[in-house]
Amino acid sequence: MRGMTTAHTPPSPLSVVVLAAGKGTRMRSDLPKVLQPLAGKPLLGHVLDTVQQLAAERAVVVAGFGAQRVQEAFAHQPHQQTLRFALQEPQLGTGHAVQQALPDLPETGVCLVLYGDVPLAPAASLLPLVAEAQTGALALLTVELPDPTGYGRILRNADGAVQGIVEHKDASPAQRAVRECNTGILCAPVAHLRRWLGQLRNDNAQGEYYLTDVVALAVADGVPVRAATVPDADDVLGVNDRGQLAHLERVVQLRAARRLLDAGVTLADPARLDVRGTLHCGRDVFIDVGCVFEGEVHLADGARVGPYAVLRDVRVGADTVVHPFCHLDGAGIGAGAIIGPFARLRPTTALADGVHIGNFVEVKNGTLGQGAKANHLSYVGDATVGARVNIGAGTIVANYDGANKHRTVIEDDAHTGSNSVLVAPITVGAGATIGAGSTVTKNAPAGKLTVARAKAVTLEGWTRPVKKK
Ligand code: UD1
Ligand code: CA
Repeated sequence: MRGMTTAHTPPSPLSVVVLAAGKGTRMRSDLPKVLQPLAGKPLLGHVLDTVQQLAAERAVVVAGFGAQRVQEAFAHQPHQQTLRFALQEPQLGTGHAVQQALPDLPETGVCLVLYGDVPLAPAASLLPLVAEAQTGALALLTVELPDPTGYGRILRNADGAVQGIVEHKDASPAQRAVRECNTGILCAPVAHLRRWLGQLRNDNAQGEYYLTDVVALAVADGVPVRAATVPDADDVLGVNDRGQLAHLERVVQLRAARRLLDAGVTLADPARLDVRGTLHCGRDVFIDVGCVFEGEVHLADGARVGPYAVLRDVRVGADTVVHPFCHLDGAGIGAGAIIGPFARLRPTTALADGVHIGNFVEVKNGTLGQGAKANHLSYVGDATVGARVNIGAGTIVANYDGANKHRTVIEDDAHTGSNSVLVAPITVGAGATIGAGSTVTKNAPAGKLTVARAKAVTLEGWTRPVKKK
């Protein structure tokens, strides 16, 4: 590394400014652009996650359009003893935006500027910029783009030294032919930045105070300007419209798929997988097409997930099979279980090993013991179900009296007949059987048959009506 940084003089402190005040007009949305979700997380959330990896002493988010919503969205994040919000109102450009953060920055050290709409810039590409700035330079991150339309272009002299940045709208045809683009990300000593920002003018195509103009000011000051080019352009693509957001979504999803494949997961099609959170997989997991994983999902060794399942905050035990079209939310599922097709598990459901949940069965806030089965057309709400219980087709646990919810207990080895209604709060004793079609409103004793329905009668002498001519 260059120069002054030695073991005895620690590198000057790092502050980060994240620009997030723009409206994002081209998104055509009421939601501030930096809150638009990418892989289930706001764009700004991706940037703040990266900020966390940089061990910055201070991070300032410059908010403007929808500032309150932006601030609220990150009020309860762990990020954040170091995080502050500055208000930019009105929004007069990226240089003006950084200026609004200056009062919150320490006098010394270096400042890294990130853009809230450039979500994927990795810490590994940012740290070298910080190191350059710590030697006194202005460090820029640039990218070669096949289609640079809309981006600021890097201007170099005959020796290849950076002279400035020209915005697309201000650029001449010759300048527009330049493919080396400004990512927007730069790092400089705070003291320099303060001085340059004070000299910005807005006599340009957009009538804005461009942050990019600090480059020419640095050159005029004789401050060294260093430009590092990112190898993977996807890392620094900005989101200005829905098309770019959709493109980045695929980038993120394909990267997630690639990581899963590398970890030994079988994906029926890496292009048809959506992870909007964190997916943890054991060995020999199989995931079919069209599945969506949200929040924290754990799939243990040998788990298989059929096509078009949505799993959110779920733990799936080893060798459990989730058949197609299941919606599983906030549930824990044991090993060797069979779920679906068309099953719905709602939050705080816990299924023990070997449980079978079949088609059109909904379980809410219930526990099913080892080997219990509910294979067809049932609602099991607020119930504690023992081991080896068989919930017959069409059984409904009626947990709601119109005002309050009540709990039902179904003890080990009980069977409920088809189309029975268990009106909570009741207990069905161990080994009890409920006759088909029963509406049970009191406890059913263990080991016995309880039937609560009218007896079948046969009317002698009845004849079927005959159709009139
Ligand atoms: C900017 C750069 C351009 C670069 C491109 C990369 C400038 C002048 N241009 O252009 O060189 O190639 O990013 O993606 O910097 N913002 C504010 N306050 C404002 C204006 C913008 O906070 O007054 C924020 C926006 O919310 C956004 C970021 O700054 O997060 C960039 O603004 P945007 O208008 O998207 O700039 P670009 O035209 O993309
Ligand atoms: Ca942009």
